[in-house]
Amino acid sequence: MPAAPYSGFGAYRVNEAAQAQAAKGTRQPPGRRILAIANQKGGVGKTTTAINLATALAAVGRRILVFDSDPQGNASTGLGVDRNQTRRSSYDVLVNQTPIADAVVATAVPGLFLVPSAIDLSAAELELVNLERREYRLHEAFMELREAYDYVLIDCPPSLGLLTLNAMVAADGVLVPLQCEYLALEGLSHLARTIDRIRAGFNTRLYIQGIVLTMFDNRNNLSSLVADDVRGYFGDKVYKTVIPRNVRVSEAPSHGKPVLLYDLRCPGSQAYIHLAGEILRREEGEWT
Ligand SMILES: Nc1ncnc2c1ncn2[C@@H]1O[C@H](COP(=O)(O)OP(=O)(O)O)[C@@H](O)[C@H]1O
Ligand SMILES: [Mg+2]
Repeated sequence: MPAAPYSGFGAYRVNEAAQAQAAKGTRQPPGRRILAIANQKGGVGKTTTAINLATALAAVGRRILVFDSDPQGNASTGLGVDRNQTRRSSYDVLVNQTPIADAVVATAVPGLFLVPSAIDLSAAELELVNLERREYRLHEAFMELREAYDYVLIDCPPSLGLLTLNAMVAADGVLVPLQCEYLALEGLSHLARTIDRIRAGFNTRLYIQGIVLTMFDNRNNLSSLVADDVRGYFGDKVYKTVIPRNVRVSEAPSHGKPVLLYDLRCPGSQAYIHLAGEILRREEGEWT
């Protein structure tokens, strides 16, 4: 078999020592986690993972908050929340320091709550530049609700600007959805270096919580090659659970529902249920 056509990824190695240091001592007890769901590439499954992982965790009795930090607001519409009806949004929390509790809305899923995004969030990236402690706005906003939820999942926009930076400064870990295709590898290496820099500069707790392979197509040879390579470099950081490409997953948002409510039995729903289980088990394992 010819060598995989991608290159340049080998230059990156996980900074094991820094990751281990970040994981030590400063961690929250299990079940009190803020996770940034981030990847600077669009269309890799961030929002889908935010919505459906949140639903699967809520389904096993965890109290979950999704913070929609993408101006496109796909997590809000995908959870059935009408963005025109919301009074307060993630923009108000980030820019106007509105208390987060005032921006929280319930969803159709018991135990799953949302801070919706409004269209004005697209301006926040620029407005934040001139604000005091611009990198810490979300971190400070989350201080007050730390105890109120078991998990907070932040759906990040497809960039590494101030919105994503705020998410990573507020977070305990980064969950990286990764689509197994050619450019994904370079993107992942760039993202991992960014996380190292944020840990060094802003948030010593930050580490890669895990990498989840999304929209996996096992008929596609490159998918498997890339998956093997990612596992080769990132080892156990890559979840065993793989999210398959499944048309039901892509249909669900147009019904304003998580795929778990739209079609519980489809392979996509089952995969997100497995992912939630794996995340919970790992976390418990890390603490015993
Ligand atoms: N497992 C999947 N199978 C099929 N389609 C998917 C799957 N995951 C995501 N999609 C679709 O791919 C597109 C991009 O996913 P999305 O979660 O919005 O990515 P991101 O938030 O990273 O931009 C959406 O149309 C979504 O419905
Ligand atoms: Mg998205």
